[in-house]
Amino acid sequence: MFEGKNVLVTGSAHNVGFGMAKVFADYGATVFVHGPTAEETTAAAEALSAKGGRYIPVAADVRHEDEVARAFEFIAQQVGGLDVLINNACHLGLGHRFLDMPMDFFDDVLAVNLRGYALCAQLAARQMITRGGGAIVNIGSNTAGRALGDRAAYIASKGGVESLTRAIAVELGEHRIRVNCVIPGYIHTERWNTLTEEVKQRRWTNVPLGRESTPQDIGEAAAFLASDKAGNITGECLRVSGGIDIQLVPPDCAV
Ligand SMILES: NC(=O)c1ccc[n+]([C@@H]2O[C@H](COP(=O)([O-])OP(=O)(O)OC[C@H]3O[C@@H](n4cnc5c(N)ncnc54)[C@H](OP(=O)(O)O)[C@@H]3O)[C@@H](O)[C@H]2O)c1
Repeated sequence: MFEGKNVLVTGSAHNVGFGMAKVFADYGATVFVHGPTAEETTAAAEALSAKGGRYIPVAADVRHEDEVARAFEFIAQQVGGLDVLINNACHLGLGHRFLDMPMDFFDDVLAVNLRGYALCAQLAARQMITRGGGAIVNIGSNTAGRALGDRAAYIASKGGVESLTRAIAVELGEHRIRVNCVIPGYIHTERWNTLTEEVKQRRWTNVPLGRESTPQDIGEAAAFLASDKAGNITGECLRVSGGIDIQLVPPDCAV
């Protein structure tokens, strides 16, 4: 599905991004594995390559414009430019109640989760224009639509991701660049393994399909939206959450 295509998955040295990188490489893409440091991106690209596929490490802190610009120059030199960008790198934004949240913390979360997405999308789109088009998929979060406590900055940033998706989809359509969003619910990451069995069981009970997503589930949705199969879809947000968001209240709260 992506033979001859060049794909950048931001934040792909671990967890969901790592799994998505594998999905795209398995579909034939050359995948740029990205993270804030050269050490971790190199290690991740080596680990992925050991399973087959073409991976190239590229490091940049998405908060810093000069570093990101250098990373995109590197991509252009290596392969001539991007066909697909998956904006995934994130600051989890944990640890502050809103009333006590330092505004520097708020700025930092948005610098990664929203400004970082816009910056990568802008630089990617400029490369895609020279290649006759492309696709951008932004990874959002279901917390943007249904909030939780203690994560105001993260949740605000993810709401912004959905709006940014539609805003740039409108502008980039004339360049044959489609922009869409995947909205995950629970995903199985390294953090999932730290949950108690009781918490896992409660979460599964609350998901109509009975399980959390895998990084591969998110990658397959992103791959569909980035592929020619979604050739007339842009500005769309696709939920991949096992249905947890479609309920009035979760079963363990139902009365
Ligand atoms: N996990 C879930 O249950 C869940 C649910 C809904 C939505 N999502 C979304 O899915 C995506 C992936 O989630 P995840 O759980 O895999 O997150 P994660 O484990 O925190 O991974 C995010 C990646 O982004 C990188 N990153 C952080 N700050 C960066 C920066 N300034 N510059 C460059 N890279 C940076 C991290 O690198 P370092 O590790 O080196 O900092 C990390 O590899 C996110 O967009 C998240 O919002 C996740």
